Amino acid sequence: MNTTEVKSLLCKALREKPETLRASRKMGNIDFAKLRHMGLNENVFGMSPKALEAISEASPVSNLYADWTQKDLKEAIAENFGLTTEYVTTGCGSSAMIDAMGTAFLDPGDELMLCMPTFPAIIDTAQMHGATVKIIQMKDDLKFDLAKMLLEITEKTKMVYICNPNNPTGTYIGIDELRRFAESCPDDVIQVYDEAYIEFSDAPDCQSIVECMKELPEKPIIALKTFSKFYGMAGVRVGYALAQPEISTWLAKCGTQFGVSKTSQAAAAAAIKDKEHGAYVHEQVVRGRDYLAKEMKALGCDVYDSQTNFIFFNAHVDPVEVQYRMMEKGIFISAQAGMNRVSVSYMEDCERFIMYLAEIMHALKATA
Ligand SMILES: Cc1ncc(COP(=O)(O)O)c(C=O)c1O
Repeated sequence: MNTTEVKSLLCKALREKPETLRASRKMGNIDFAKLRHMGLNENVFGMSPKALEAISEASPVSNLYADWTQKDLKEAIAENFGLTTEYVTTGCGSSAMIDAMGTAFLDPGDELMLCMPTFPAIIDTAQMHGATVKIIQMKDDLKFDLAKMLLEITEKTKMVYICNPNNPTGTYIGIDELRRFAESCPDDVIQVYDEAYIEFSDAPDCQSIVECMKELPEKPIIALKTFSKFYGMAGVRVGYALAQPEISTWLAKCGTQFGVSKTSQAAAAAAIKDKEHGAYVHEQVVRGRDYLAKEMKALGCDVYDSQTNFIFFNAHVDPVEVQYRMMEKGIFISAQAGMNRVSVSYMEDCERFIMYLAEIMHALKATA
């Protein structure tokens, strides 16, 4: 069969789905083995040694199915947030949980609302379920415009997505503003808060929505979490959603947790308990983030304050050209939404990046 013939067999939503906005899905063949990783917001400082140990211990018994009740992992996660295990649903990365939210909640005709630029996986999910996407302009400071979002909610609005702190901008919304939004949102609108990067924050008011979720049981609030970033386990593939048990029960029916392997469950359970390694990662990331922000500002870039492990910046030259030239020098960074994004790495890589950025900006401005 040729591609056109197969296309006629596809479900309508996939056949008509617009091209994904996810940069990583469109990258093609990049030989990452030869590049320093500063483009995908990975945690170069690695996973907890205790998680590695747990993988070694679990791996020889991988001939057996994983515990599908996920007792140990769910208990470890629940304890971390002062919850019970009924609030936790897991999957292969928070990407899997994003898909599950579409499966569980979105029908054709429903509307998903978000601000752009943000992490666009939820847009793919909505489109796969025939839902429409309403995009609200971000504020000038590149923060989600929650006031505007509230005003734009109609009877069609089924889900709102807020990434906090946001990818790719690194910006965040303080907990008081978030709480007001959560309280004001109608009870029949699912509120999704993607907190993939929140563990890297150091601003006192950059806080998880989980406490609001506990306090507002009448609101369908879902906090999305991942082991890919702060816990340095992007390749292990574990993410989870925290929500009231009435919601988690339905999310669990989407089947994501059967994909989480024995080794991944063991690693994640060990990682979330290892506070010492967490403190080490936090310290390294804040140090690298402060350094990059200061040096990029000194080079004349516009730099957005970040509470994540990456920085969004405008070097006032073509961002795609910056990405390309940086790659030629051996460093992979991202270009999106008309700007660049660089992930925090080891200090020597951050220093090298700054040196190359100065050269690239100089060369591009000379030819402008
Ligand atoms: C905001 C945000 N949410 C979710 C994800 C998905 O992460 P994973 O599927 O690895 O948990 C990412 C990945 O970059 C992200 O930036």
